[in-house]
Order: sequence, then C-alpha cells, then structure tokens
Amino acid sequence: MSKILFKINGRQYEADGTYSPDVSLNEFIRNVANLRGTKSMCHEGGCGACVVAVQAALPPDNEAKTFAVNSCLVSVLSCHGWEVTTVEGVGNRTMGYHDIQNRLAQFNGTQCGYCTPGWIMNMYSLYTSKNGKLMSSEVENSFAGNICRCTGYRPIADAFKSFAVDADERLLSKVNDIEDLALLSKCRVKCNATRWKENNIESDSEWCIVNKTSNNTLTLGDNVFKWFKVYNLSEVFKIISQNVDYKFIAGNTGQGVYHVTEYPPIIIDIFNVVDLKGYTLDINLIVGAGTTLTDMMELFTRISVENEDFSYLSEFVKHLDLVAHVPVRNIGTIAGNLFLKYTNNDFPSDLFLLFETIDAMITIGSGVNNRQTMSFSEFLTINMTGKIIINIMLPPLPRLCKIKTYKIMARSQNTHAIVNAGFLFKFKPNQNILEKVNIVYGNISPSFIHATETEKILIDKDPFTEETLQLALKSLDAEIAPEDAPPEPSAKYRKQLALALYYKAILSLCPESKVNPKYVSGGNVIKRNISQGTQTFDTDESVWPLNKPIPKLEALVQCSGEATFANDLPAEIGEVFAAFVTADVLPGSIISGFDATAALELPGVQAFYTAKDIPGSNTFAPLDFPLVTEVEEILCNEKVAFHGQPAGIIVASREKLAIAAARLVKINYEFISVKNPVLTVHDAIKSSEASDRVKTSMVVDPTDIGNDVKSKINDQVYFDSQYHYYMEPQTCVVKPTEDGLDVYASAQWMDLINVAIAGCLNVPVNSVSVIVRRVGGAYGGKISRASQIACAAALVSYLQGRTCRLILPIEKNMSISGNRSPTYCNFEVGVNAEGEIQYLKNKYYQDLGCSINDSFTSITVNHFPSCYNSSRWHIESYNVITDKSSMTWCRAPATTEGIATTEYIMERIAFEIKKDAIDVRLQNMKKEDNPIPELIDYTKKISDYDTRLKAVVDYNKNNRWRKRAIKLLPMTYDLFYLSPFNAIVSVYHRDGTVSITHGATEMGQGVNTKVAQVAAYALGIPLEDISVKPSSSVTSPNCMATGGSVGSECVSYATLKACEIIKERLEEVKKKMDNPTWKELVKQAYQSGVYLQASYQFTTNGPIKPYDIFGVVVLEVEVDILTGNHEILRVDLLEDTGRSLSPSIDVGQIEGAFVMGLGYWTSEKLIYDQTTGKLLTDRTWTYKPPGIKDVPADFRIYFRRNSTNESGVLQSKATGEPALCMAVVITHALREAVRAARLDAGYEDQWVQLDIPCTTENIFMAVEHKIEHYKLK
Ligand SMILES: Cc1cc2nc3c(=O)[nH]c(=O)nc-3n(C[C@H](O)[C@H](O)[C@H](O)COP(=O)(O)OP(=O)(O)OC[C@H]3O[C@@H](n4cnc5c(N)ncnc54)[C@H](O)[C@@H]3O)c2cc1C
Ligand code: FES
Ligand code: FES
Repeated sequence: MSKILFKINGRQYEADGTYSPDVSLNEFIRNVANLRGTKSMCHEGGCGACVVAVQAALPPDNEAKTFAVNSCLVSVLSCHGWEVTTVEGVGNRTMGYHDIQNRLAQFNGTQCGYCTPGWIMNMYSLYTSKNGKLMSSEVENSFAGNICRCTGYRPIADAFKSFAVDADERLLSKVNDIEDLALLSKCRVKCNATRWKENNIESDSEWCIVNKTSNNTLTLGDNVFKWFKVYNLSEVFKIISQNVDYKFIAGNTGQGVYHVTEYPPIIIDIFNVVDLKGYTLDINLIVGAGTTLTDMMELFTRISVENEDFSYLSEFVKHLDLVAHVPVRNIGTIAGNLFLKYTNNDFPSDLFLLFETIDAMITIGSGVNNRQTMSFSEFLTINMTGKIIINIMLPPLPRLCKIKTYKIMARSQNTHAIVNAGFLFKFKPNQNILEKVNIVYGNISPSFIHATETEKILIDKDPFTEETLQLALKSLDAEIAPEDAPPEPSAKYRKQLALALYYKAILSLCPESKVNPKYVSGGNVIKRNISQGTQTFDTDESVWPLNKPIPKLEALVQCSGEATFANDLPAEIGEVFAAFVTADVLPGSIISGFDATAALELPGVQAFYTAKDIPGSNTFAPLDFPLVTEVEEILCNEKVAFHGQPAGIIVASREKLAIAAARLVKINYEFISVKNPVLTVHDAIKSSEASDRVKTSMVVDPTDIGNDVKSKINDQVYFDSQYHYYMEPQTCVVKPTEDGLDVYASAQWMDLINVAIAGCLNVPVNSVSVIVRRVGGAYGGKISRASQIACAAALVSYLQGRTCRLILPIEKNMSISGNRSPTYCNFEVGVNAEGEIQYLKNKYYQDLGCSINDSFTSITVNHFPSCYNSSRWHIESYNVITDKSSMTWCRAPATTEGIATTEYIMERIAFEIKKDAIDVRLQNMKKEDNPIPELIDYTKKISDYDTRLKAVVDYNKNNRWRKRAIKLLPMTYDLFYLSPFNAIVSVYHRDGTVSITHGATEMGQGVNTKVAQVAAYALGIPLEDISVKPSSSVTSPNCMATGGSVGSECVSYATLKACEIIKERLEEVKKKMDNPTWKELVKQAYQSGVYLQASYQFTTNGPIKPYDIFGVVVLEVEVDILTGNHEILRVDLLEDTGRSLSPSIDVGQIEGAFVMGLGYWTSEKLIYDQTTGKLLTDRTWTYKPPGIKDVPADFRIYFRRNSTNESGVLQSKATGEPALCMAVVITHALREAVRAARLDAGYEDQWVQLDIPCTTENIFMAVEHKIEHYKLK
C-alpha cells in the first residue's frame, strides 16, 4: 500500500508520497480539504489556533479514543486510520450548532474569533473523551495551550465550565437566562440542532477497518524521501539497519520546540509501534517509551493510588500537568521528550528531571533482542545511531523516601521551566538522617544535572536542622554555576532560584514541629482555585436594542469557523505564496546584491523579487498622508535599518516552501557594520549619534508653582515594549481582477493600503480594492504595519498575474511588524507635607525604533495628567530613534505610558512622605469637574477595600514567604476622535431588511454589533433584520484607521445619521399611510420612488466631541516570595461606559484590555541580542502573554451607575483601551508585596526598585534573598 487513509468530518481522504513530511495536517485541512475553519498562527504548538479533534484506536489496547491535537504539529502522513473532526464537523448553519458553540457564543467568549475554533475543538475533544462528565477544575485546567488575546478568558472559562457536572449556580442560571431570552439571532438557514449529534456518531466498525487492516508497514514516497509507517520493532530495526540517515517520528510535537527545517531521506513513523506502548509492573514500573504523556499521567494517577510503593507518582502527575498542554501531551511521547533532551542538552526536560530524581532507568534497543538498560545521565552520553528508546523503568520507593519536585515558569501554564528541580531524600530506617539524596536541576546549564557535592555532604545528616540547611545551601551556592543564555532569565536568578527551591522543598517536607508556622506556606507553590467573575451593569430597556446586553452578531459563525478571515479566501488555481527574505545582519550594513540561485532551484519556487522590481515607489508609508512623517521601505534597498528587515520576496507554490526557500537566498553586503546596535533609549542618549537620534518633540510649561516644598524626589522609570500578539498573523491575499487588484487584507486602515499599493505599483488608486471582512486581532499592530505586507503581496500578484498570499511566520511577524514603544522617564518632584505637588519636572523619552512614524509622544504628554491637577507640571518629551523595527501603536498607546508614569509618581510620593497612596492622590486631584474622588469611595466600598487591607496585613504577619498586597488606582482617560469614517445604510424594499457597510474594521471589538444595535434602534426594527457587510475601500474610501477605541463610536454615529436621513425621506410617505408597519412603509416608499440608501460621513467637525472616561480599580495579589510567581486574587474594576451601546460587548472590551495590560506589566518581555540587534523572543516558546490561569481568580467588573455622556454617541463612552491603562496597578501591588518581604528580611524600608515588566525574575531579584534568610525557626 502506498498511501495512507484517514477521514476528515466523515469524508475519506488519502495521502501518498507526493505529500512531503513537512505537510502538516493543518495545511491539508485548509488547502486540500478546503476547510478553512481551522486556523493557524505559530505552527509550533504554542497558540492553539489549529486544534482539531481526532478519534483513533491506539496501541496497546486499540481502544477508540477522542483527543485534541495541534494540527500544525502533525504531519499529514501520520494520520493513517485517524478520524479527524474540524470545527465545521462539530456544527454549522446547515446542520445546526453544537451546544459548545452555542454556549461560547452566548457567553461572549469570542471577540475577533480567530482563536475560537481552536477553543471549540479542544473543548469538544475534552467533552467527548469524558462523555460529558467534567469537573470545573478539569475544564479550567485543560486550555493551557489555547491563547486568546481578546477576551481576557473569563467568558470562555465561564462558557465551558457551565458544562461541568459541578458548574456553579451562577453559571447555570446564566445558561437558563440566555436560553430564555433566545439572545442569539437565529440563523436564516433551517437548523437542525440535533443533526450534529447524529453526524458525529460514527460507527466504530467503519473507521476501525482502516486500522485493523493496516498493521503491515506502509511505505510512501520516492527517491527524495521515504516515509515508513511501522507497527513493530523488528520492522524498525530492519529499516534502520539498511539506512543511516533517518529520523523517527512519534507524536511529532518535538518540532514545536526545536523546529525541523530539513528532513532526512528516511522517516520512520513509530507512533503505532506496539512494542513501545503499554506498561508492566513487577518490582519496577516499566512504561513503554512510546506512551503518550496523557496516557502516562493516567497510568501514574491510577498506580499511585493502587500501589503504595508508587504513591510518589501523584507528585509526578502534578508536575506533568505543567508540561506543555493537553493537545501536545495527547500525542507527545515519553521517548520524544527524552530524545529532545538527548540532542539538546540545554532542553529543560521535565521528564528527564523527574526520572533522574528517582534513579529511574532507561532501556535502549539496538536490535529486537538487543537491549541495554542504563541511567538517564548515562543515556545522554551514548551514541544513539541505530538505536531506539524502548522503555523507562521506575523503581518503587519505600516510605523512607521523600520526594518533592518543582517547575517554576514565566506564567501559570504551558511554559518551559525557568528552573525545574527534583529532590529525593532517603532516610535511614528509624532515624532522621539521610542515606541517599538526589538533587536534580534543569535549565542550569547543558551539562548540569545533579548537585553531586551537596548530595554527598547531606549523607548521614538530618536535613531538617538549621545547620544542615545552611550547609546544603552554601554547598549548592558553590556548585551551581548557570550560564547566561538569553533570552532565558539571567544566570544569577536561575542560581538563586535553584537555592530557594531547595529551601522550599525542605519547608514542605519538614515535620511541623521543626518549622516556624510562618514559614510553612513557603513550601507550597501558588495553586489557583477555580476562577470566577461578575459583571454588574444597568440596562435601560426603554431604549433596547440599544444598551441591551447581547452576544456579538457574528458570535456563532465565529464559533463554527464559518466566519472568514483574509487567508480564508478559497484556494485559487495557480495561486502563489510569498515569503520575505530578510537582512539578518547588524543595522547599518549596506546591501550590494542577492544570490537566489539555491532557492530558485527548488521545485515549486517561482520567482525572487527585490526593491528593483517595484514599479513605483518603494514605500508602504507614502508621504503626504495622515500620520506619515517619513517613508519606510517595503524592501530594503541598501542600508539595513534593523536586524531582520525585509529585503526580498520569494514566490513559491506552497507557503512552507516559500519560507524554506527564503532562507536559502544569500544577501551580499558591500559593508557589514561592526558597531553595537542602539537598542534602548539609554543606548541612544549615550551614543555618539545622540543629537540625531534624540529629538525634542514637545514641551509643556507649568502655569503655576507651589512654594511649600517639604520633600524632593528624583527618580526614573522605564517601561518596556510589548508585542501585540494578534492571533491572526499579518496577512494579505491579493487577487488580480479585470480592472486591477482585489486586496483581502488583515488591516485596520484600508485607505493607507489603498494608497500605498497604488503608489508602489504606480497604478491609479481606483484600480485597487481593499476588502476587510474582519481581522483576527490587531490592537494597533495592523494600522500602519499591515501596509508593508499588503504592498509586498500586491507586488507579487501584479508581477505574476496570479493570486498571492503573504502570511508572516511568527518569527518574522515579531521581528518586522513593530511593537509597543518602550518609554523612559526621569523626573524631579517637590511636594508639601501632605504630598501635594509643588512642582514637577518630567523628561520623557519614547523609543520609536528605526522610524519616526507612529510617534505619539505628544499624545502621551496629554495623558500624563489623568485625573490630577497638572498646572504645576513641566513636561519635556523626546522622540528617540533606535536600531529596531519601527515601533507602532499598541492598544492604549501613549495613554498607558502617560497614566503609568503619573501613577508611579503618586506612589513614589506616598512612600517618601509615609502617607497613604490614596490620600496623596486625593491631594493632587483636579478639583473641578472630577468624579474620581467619589468613584474611589464607591469602589472602596464595593470591593470591601478597608477590611481586605487589614486582612492583608494580618496575612503578611503570619506568612514569611507568601505576601499579599492590595492597591487602588484611579484613571481619567482623555478620549479624542479620529476621522473621517462613513457608513452606508441600504434598505431592501422587498422585506424591509437592512444592510450596512462602514469604514471601520471589525477586529473583535464588536463594531458591527454596535452598529446594528444603533440602526435597529434608529429605524425601530428588529435586530435580526440587519446585516453588516464587509468593509471595503470601494464603499468606504478615504476612511481613517480604526483605532484609539473610537472606531465603533464613529461608525455608529455615521450609521445613526444615515438612518435618520432614510427616516426623514420616509416621513412624507408615512404621513399618507395609516400607521404602517416598517415593511409596509418601505414597500410603499419604494413604489413612490424614495431612495432607500443613505450614507453619512463622521468627521471631528460635528457635534461629537472628546470626553473623559473614568475608572477605578482595586487589585489584590499574592506573591510566592521564594520563586517570584504571583497570583491575582481579586480585581474590582469600575469603568464609566456612559450609557453603553452594548454592555456585553463592553464588558468583553474591558476584561480583554485589562488582561492584555496585565501581560504587559508582568510576563511579556522582548529581548534583543545586544551584539546583533536580533529579537530573541520571537516565538511562543519565548514570549508569554497571559494564559487562562493567569487572569484574576476573581474578576469583578462594574459599569458606573446612571452614567450618561452628552459629548459621545447616544450617551455612550468608548471601552476598547482605557481598562488597559489601569492594569499598571499590578506593579504597585507587587512592589508592596516585595516590600513586605524585604521588611521581614530585616532590610530598611526603602523604595523597592522593581524593574518592569514585573517578571518572576524581577520580583524575585527585588527581594534580595540571602542564604542566611532561609531558616526553619
Ligand atoms: C508547545 C510545547 C510545549 C512544551 N512544553 C514542555 C515542557 O514544559 N516541558 C517538557 O519537558 N517538554 C515540553 N515540551 C516537549 C514535549 O514534551 C515533547 O514535544 C514531546 O514529548 C515529544 O514527543 P513526540 O512523540 O511528539 O516526539 P517527536 O517530535 O515525534 O520526536 C522528537 C524526537 O525524538 C525522537 N524519538 C521519538 N521517539 C523515539 C524513540 N522511541 N527512540 C529514539 N528517538 C525517538 C525523534 O526522532 C525526534 O528526534 C513541549 C512541547 C511543545 C510543542
Ligand atoms: S498554529 Fe498550531 S498551535 Fe499555533
Ligand atoms: S477572540 Fe480570542 S484572540 Fe480574538
């Protein structure tokens, strides 16, 4: 047999050797099966966008199982006998939606919708595999691999937990409410809500046939490569005895960690090799090396209960729960993990660590009957050519052994270890002294495994004495010598963390009587309970559907994958894919030419283009255009502006081929810079080019000065960058048409793309049509930066006369497309005894990267004041040019930095004069027209602030190594408008239904839903009769970028006015009728020749004026002082939304923005190579936005009661960004917690320098641990 057989949504497919090993299941599903509901982003198992469900019978027992996999990691050739279900197969408009899809939509668990199919499929797999018997904690724990940047996770968690057998009453009553209200508009196709169930019950026999008949080795492929699907070891050895250059593939998830760019000619798929599966238990527990991590965890859970000698495995299960995430663990195998460690000794393998801790053994086979058993350390040293890992042998551990393992990570889940540690203490019978000790650490250095010296020292000692503890710590201090390996956390932190973990283990194992009760909580790691949230708002039924809480209009189609994104345009005959060739060299180097020979020789590679092929101007930022200050090149022509700048484009028949070929293009340089790149504001200020790089942008002088100066403070703050982490990568598909090009862009600004493409191709603007149905997350990152991708794709399409797709791989996306501008601020402030500012001198620098475009220092300056009286403030702002990609707008740009700086100053003053920080804030409040003091009082009351503050003090008194803190922070967000934006409202005479199109981009913020609610309200018709169509430069030319939170309001206003125009036209007809229905009126109007379409353009010259948005937040955090990990216990966030146009949408905006802010201030860090300027954190493996378990455990949102807004649209206020500005409260809470720990350690009460972002490293290092602090009594 020379093909593999599998099914997708019940339909049989086959794949043969024409599919190379790098064709993933994801590529097949999307491009061959043409099912575009399954998405992709990272292609490395890190984001979850690609998750699908698989049903298969796997050895050893061939029991049929349903499990989720990341389709990006699975080679399609691995799918033999699989029954794959994609989101389309779960439910859709024709066959009816699945309860999971309905529930997620109803709970508002989808915003941009790009991540949504992945969530649905992971939940579907979980639900099916457990026959619906799920616990809430299990649900919440199973989504570590699914990232959602929009929602802040709470609504997704609620929706899915509502399926749990222990779902809380609040969620169940919400489900009932939603069902009663039938909140989702019905689909217009006849639904059969039960059909999905029937369709999904496949007869076992049908898919088993494939499996049962396929236990003979399959061979696919030809001379270039051969793929063997094998079922037993003898076949494996037969193949490897005849071939030298081969590779095993089991789950194939290892490529998520170490990317495979080239495959050897022989690939052996061993996933179904029966000899590598199963387990036996005699004295040892012997587990087949091909066992998946999920199966291993299930086995360990069971054995730990059944067999006392293996009770330690329950500790392992807890640890393994932190390894990768469910879809990876479902197919990732033990051997695959260990072999990653074998080939990359620096890999912090958790499995290796666990097994080594208990002196487990590994069996290596070099022939069917030729096996060798060895220690795990020894395994790393042997030659594995011609060999295979067969099994692992875990010993029983008597009660005399105590075990503790830790994995410390940058966020709660799905992150490799900063340091992992395993401790085994074996005591002598009836004595307190040690017979044997294992101390194993990961991520110290490639060669470090055991702390051997310390292990020796501890023999015959009682580990639970102060003396032994100090001895061990000093010994560890002497022998642990980590290496700096950016972007991994610093060697210093990793070393100190390793020591702290030893202390933690001792605290956790130490008998109660020997340890001070205050220290006990230090032995545990932070473990969150099931999260919860409340949303409190009023709704005025008299104006419904305005102000009515409804799900997004597109929620269901997003949950079923029917909602389309740019790259979901069906495959076109002859279409091509483009990939950037980048100048991976020091900035300042000069390109002299290119050698694309090797790339062009690859079959399927069709062309290579450089700047010289651009017929018009080589810029995606055309001059004489709003917000553009200077041109930026589409393709670097000569001087390289930053490491990784695009310089050429490869065109090929497949996306992966284009990416691979791009790597083969050689760029020649006339000059290669040797200067260290300028990467920060500090570098720029110090550099010899400071006068060119650092330019004054704006100076604001005070109008007043106070003379009661009692204290002066000089300080500085540095806020780093942030990657937008939109789930849909920068994407553009360009299709030639009879009169030009249709451009399907993932973009926030159609007009810029329209003009830039016309300019670069030297064609009229009207020959380019930009179409944006929706964008899979943008957060500002697709305002100006999307234009470069669109121009490049348009260039290829224009030169080739074919449809071209350009999708940036994550590494390129992160390096090329700009991030949040880092900011640096130094200030001097003089205050009186009460903390009232007498004068403030504030110098503020914004790092713009390599281009002055997207500079917003002046906006920041406007946002410094927030809710405070700024009449005594002197502010100087500077633009700074550095050697990085051009920085750009990122959700709440400028406002975040301005408000964060001011709040830092307030906290700093309070500390200096030893006053309460809220009182200091009140001292400095703007006196007139300022509701903030009242809102502070209110928020304190609803959050029970005073009582909880006391509880925090008590908690801290009783816990030396766990500290809590509670902080409050106010905000006034000065909203301003951008324009123009249009809307076109069309009424159909036949049935009175209405279509709307507008000039904003739907990117998750719910603009279409708001527009529909406004139109339904204005026209007095049901919401179901309104449809919002894609945005296009044909119907909405010349519109502004959708950003700054105002897009929804601007087009809502334009819609309102267009509706009013139509209503006015209908008035004459209506007068002549007797109280007609809408349909009758429209019909009559049509017959009378009334024009039933109207458009309106919103501009800033109209009655809609800027206004302030107010907010107050209270946040309580708990910090594990011995690791730097934290948990946000509760957040109470009050925001003034005016009379919200759409409360559920606004709740989603607020929660999502706040959580994105939490990521910015804590776990997200961009790290550059100091000598080359290369971005090192350019993957999901190294860059960590918050996951589902990083959000507040108790998240309470309140809208300001009875709020109105005369300046805004229909009394509403914008919600997209302000909440992000309040997230900085976390930094102050964390600092307070660290301060408490430092005071316990005996340090003077000094201002704590907690570097930002407050990563685990920065939190831990700010404590300044010393070995002598680690005590038992
Ligand atoms: C997103 C993500 C997060 C992760 N997080 C963690 C983490 O936190 N901690 C951690 O420890 N790991 C982590 N991993 C690694 C994960 O555990 C491994 O990817 C997985 O176990 C590999 O198993 P596999 O079957 O997919 O291996 P494959 O990818 O199929 O193979 C990996 C390597 O092992 C070789 N191999 C496979 N089986 C054998 C065998 N029997 N004998 C000899 N060689 C063999 C293959 O040839 C290949 O070189 C993560 C992975 C991903 C993708
Ligand atoms: S695309 Fe598969 S996990 Fe990101
Ligand atoms: S809805 Fe999850 S990323 Fe947009």
